[in-house]
Amino acid sequence: MKRLLKPIFCASIIAVVFFTAIFAADKLFSKELYMIKDSFSNIFGGELPKSAIHSENGYDSVNIAELLEKGAILDDSLMLINSEYPLSDDYQPALIDLSGNEVFLNPAAAKAYNEIKNAVKNKYGSSLYIMSSYRTPEEQAAAIESEGDYAAGINESEHLTGLALDVYIKYHAGMGFLDCDEGRFVNSYCQDYGFIIRYPYYGESITGIPYEPWHLRYVGFPHAKIIAENRITLEEYIESLVPGTYYYYEDYFILRQSKNEAFSVPEGIYDIIISPDNTGFYIITGKTN
Ligand code: DAL
Ligand code: ZN
Repeated sequence: MKRLLKPIFCASIIAVVFFTAIFAADKLFSKELYMIKDSFSNIFGGELPKSAIHSENGYDSVNIAELLEKGAILDDSLMLINSEYPLSDDYQPALIDLSGNEVFLNPAAAKAYNEIKNAVKNKYGSSLYIMSSYRTPEEQAAAIESEGDYAAGINESEHLTGLALDVYIKYHAGMGFLDCDEGRFVNSYCQDYGFIIRYPYYGESITGIPYEPWHLRYVGFPHAKIIAENRITLEEYIESLVPGTYYYYEDYFILRQSKNEAFSVPEGIYDIIISPDNTGFYIITGKTN
């Protein structure tokens, strides 16, 4: 009996350590999940603070058109484009030729692309290339022929806006983009340049499109960071912004509004960008300091 005591004691210690470790890991994991959810809920600002209303430098009662007249910039960066919200037939993209070689992109997306391309060059010495940027409806029809499930319907593709681009590194295109440090860097940090991985591996049931680690979509700041940090899709992000609610995230102010309704902009908000979201609302983004 005495000989049995030692192994029983050791086994008990091992069992206690084992179950404590599992319990701790479970707590840690749930805490992490909680923090992800919590950080997302932190952007919910609720009502505009009373002190901000009737402020001298803010706007007490403006609508989208009036805010544009006061110098806000209009762009398409937060347009949600999918089978539920296709582009209208008369949609006109704002485009620039990136390098004089007929590689067309939205101007804000082009600036962000140059920045991430430079970051890849500085970090790894390699060039990031564009496989596909702006596409005409005819080019999207051709993509549907060649890419099957990976291609969106003609007016359902954000390639028609110039806000989306498919990138690669020499010898590492498509899924192979993830087989190189450069591709993994782009996938991990594109949000720091205003891009999201628009079709993430966890989003197919929502986006309807399989995982595309090469397809970058420009949404700008701070939206790209919020979407990436919370591992959500653009669909979920737009839907989570309750119209008329004032959100604050880091140094940014965000408000989703319908076109003709009047709203207030608090004092001190500047560099205001307004984008239609293609679901019937506009998203107003400004800097707070
Ligand atoms: N590959 C994406 C879904 C597109 O065709 O726009
Ligand atoms: Zn693409």
